[in-house]
Amino acid sequence: MDQATILREKVKSSQEASNARVIAVTSGKGGVGKTSLSVNLGMEMAKLGKKVVIFDADFGLANVEVMLGIRPTYNLLDLIHKNKTMPEIITQGPMGIGFVSGGSGVSELASLDKNSIKLLISEMIKLDKMYDVVIIDTGAGITDSVMEFVMVSPEVLLVVTPEPTSITDAYSLLKVLRRKGEFNPLYKTINVISNRVENENEGKEIFSKMNTVSSKFLNTKLEYLGSVPQDKNASMAIIEQKPVVVAYPNSPASKAIVGLAEKILNCEHEDYKKKDGIAKVFLDFIKFKKRSK
Ligand SMILES: Nc1ncnc2c1ncn2[C@@H]1O[C@H](COP(=O)(O)OP(=O)(O)O)[C@@H](O)[C@H]1O
Ligand SMILES: [Mg+2]
Repeated sequence: MDQATILREKVKSSQEASNARVIAVTSGKGGVGKTSLSVNLGMEMAKLGKKVVIFDADFGLANVEVMLGIRPTYNLLDLIHKNKTMPEIITQGPMGIGFVSGGSGVSELASLDKNSIKLLISEMIKLDKMYDVVIIDTGAGITDSVMEFVMVSPEVLLVVTPEPTSITDAYSLLKVLRRKGEFNPLYKTINVISNRVENENEGKEIFSKMNTVSSKFLNTKLEYLGSVPQDKNASMAIIEQKPVVVAYPNSPASKAIVGLAEKILNCEHEDYKKKDGIAKVFLDFIKFKKRSK
């Protein structure tokens, strides 16, 4: 067996144990609420008894660490360069949620040698064992890293807002994904959340417009998860560096997020390839990165 096969077998055998559910949160356009939703959905899942870790692959301004007011000491590549272990690079957030910073590491993953990849993946397997849910905050747009995370994650959460550019950019994202040969939307769940809507109806309308176009022209079926209203409490919470579900639990946005978290956890029984786990997702991600280098 060659190195790659051995690694794959190792990841596979670790899967027989319990793997984390991996959800990649993405969008066509930035500033639509990906990071807010990653953090707040994560918080609610934690309240519902799940062990949650957020992997920050977004290098936007209001990233997870800013939003939670925490400051991670290490990032992903410190597993390799500083000989750290997975538990050492996880920063503890509120409600016991863990937080792993991608740092600039995500783009560097393509240049790792075999031994470093082996090390990284065996640390990733620990993440699978420690947590029930891994939320990847992917960043926005049609950059390679975003695409590759979306492609390799069994479950995708696509965030859109009523802004026309948010919708057209989401189409573009789906279109580019569709063009990538390896992307098979039939084996994926692409859940849509309409954020910052005036009312529930507006959320549904955005979704049905998107779904019509994407099933007709892109042969990609989307699922509607629900909507989150435009709510000033959401922006106030950001200034306070607290998740809105903690700072303003009774606000309209928080109530909607509670419902969405329950809905996501309730569809856990569906037997998609949802339990591939984060180690497998990373292995596939690195494979893509290496190929497109
Ligand atoms: N439901 C909402 N109502 C009002 N403001 C929101 C809502 N969701 C997000 N925001 C605001 O939008 C801005 C961008 O959100 P953020 O989560 O950083 O987006 P992204 O991660 O997609 O770039 C933040 O300032 C946040 O407060
Ligand atoms: Mg963000």
